[in-house]
Amino acid sequence: KKGSETKLVGSPDQFTKSGFILAAIGSAVGLGNMWKFPYITGQYGGAAFFLLFIVCLVAVGLPVLLAELSIGRGGRGNASSSFVKVGGHKAWGGMGLLSVIGAFMIMSFYAVVAGWTFHYAVQAFSGKLFANDDFGGQFSSFISGYTPIIWQAGVLIITGWIVARGISGGIEKFNKVLIPGLLVLLVILMVRALTLPGAEAGVEFFLKPDFSRLTPESALVALGHAFFSLSLGMGAMMTYGSYVDRKQSLGAATLAIGGGDLLYAFIAGLIIFPTTFSFGIDQAQGPTLVFIALPAAFSAMPFGTLFGGLFFILLAIAALTSTVSLIEVPVAYAIERWKMSRNTAVWIIIAGCFLLGLPAALSFGLVPGLTFGGKSFFDWMDFIASNIILPLGGLAVTVFAGYFWKGIGDEAGLTGLWFRVWLFMLRFVAPILVLFVFLHSAGIIKF
Ligand code: PHE
Repeated sequence: KKGSETKLVGSPDQFTKSGFILAAIGSAVGLGNMWKFPYITGQYGGAAFFLLFIVCLVAVGLPVLLAELSIGRGGRGNASSSFVKVGGHKAWGGMGLLSVIGAFMIMSFYAVVAGWTFHYAVQAFSGKLFANDDFGGQFSSFISGYTPIIWQAGVLIITGWIVARGISGGIEKFNKVLIPGLLVLLVILMVRALTLPGAEAGVEFFLKPDFSRLTPESALVALGHAFFSLSLGMGAMMTYGSYVDRKQSLGAATLAIGGGDLLYAFIAGLIIFPTTFSFGIDQAQGPTLVFIALPAAFSAMPFGTLFGGLFFILLAIAALTSTVSLIEVPVAYAIERWKMSRNTAVWIIIAGCFLLGLPAALSFGLVPGLTFGGKSFFDWMDFIASNIILPLGGLAVTVFAGYFWKGIGDEAGLTGLWFRVWLFMLRFVAPILVLFVFLHSAGIIKF
């Protein structure tokens, strides 16, 4: 094992201990926790689904997270070269490159949704959102117009500005302020939600499991979401791992990141379910839940302008701490592979994401013809990145770490029983389950 005396080649910019934990929690906590988690929990089984999600997170997510961090720190390279540097064949670099492309794709449409949250924050604080109570109509006329493009560009510019400042001076600094700030906002909103009349029914839906609600599909959705929520399979954790000090314990970091991700999702659930139940809103309505159902609830509660504004600010912050980690994946690649300066790499990639995100942003009605095969351009990007590339990237990590990299135990700092349990999960449990998710979401197996 190389000691901490090994100097980083060409990149002395790395995270501090706490900075790394907060940045990685920032990557994990995002629209996945605040937007997607509540609506899939609503659709796939409430509390029973939440339990299933926790099992997937602990049994499969954490082992893969530790593997990604180890490969990144062991290789000290980007999401593609790290594989090759820790002794993998070039072909593994090719799998890694797939994740780099996946991160670029996720970033392109994620910035569109992140843009929506900024628009909603402004609308809520200014009171405009509540001036007309046709929230469904407002949402669809907003996403089918051209305003989302302006916000999409705004999100990309802020992200680029942070990432251009580097790891410790940009990404770390920003997460150190925003991640604790996010927790404060979440707790305020949780107290508000839990004190609404009839909140108990929502808490019960979220926390009292009824296993008859589960379907085989629930399990696959829960596992897929555990991956997405921990930012796995896209090279993000691998890239962050490459900036971690050799002396930091990756095992402890893995537990902290997993715990952080779960905590933020838990509080998000304790905001959304009591609120929707209190106002008699259907919590199984899917992706539009936070943009249509919650404004209706906020408009009917005292100080709704304030709480609604805070809620959408919270979504926007959570999204930004994830976009910086997504963009860092192709940025690190471009810096190393094409010897670009950080600044050049950042702005070229930001421009690329804007262009690729444009048809996604416009596919909600403004430009006809962007829907084919039953899916809009936006849905296709989400589908290809989240359902195809992400599981394949995750599979590459588990198989490489479980079977091919002999030195992984040293880098991860695990020995004895824990090491054997971890290796077992990486070798047998994770790849098989991930393969199922992949085959199901690619439509190859059906229930
Ligand atoms: N984990 C983020 C979320 O939950 C999304 C993400 C996926 C970020 C992959 C980086 C890489 O929103």
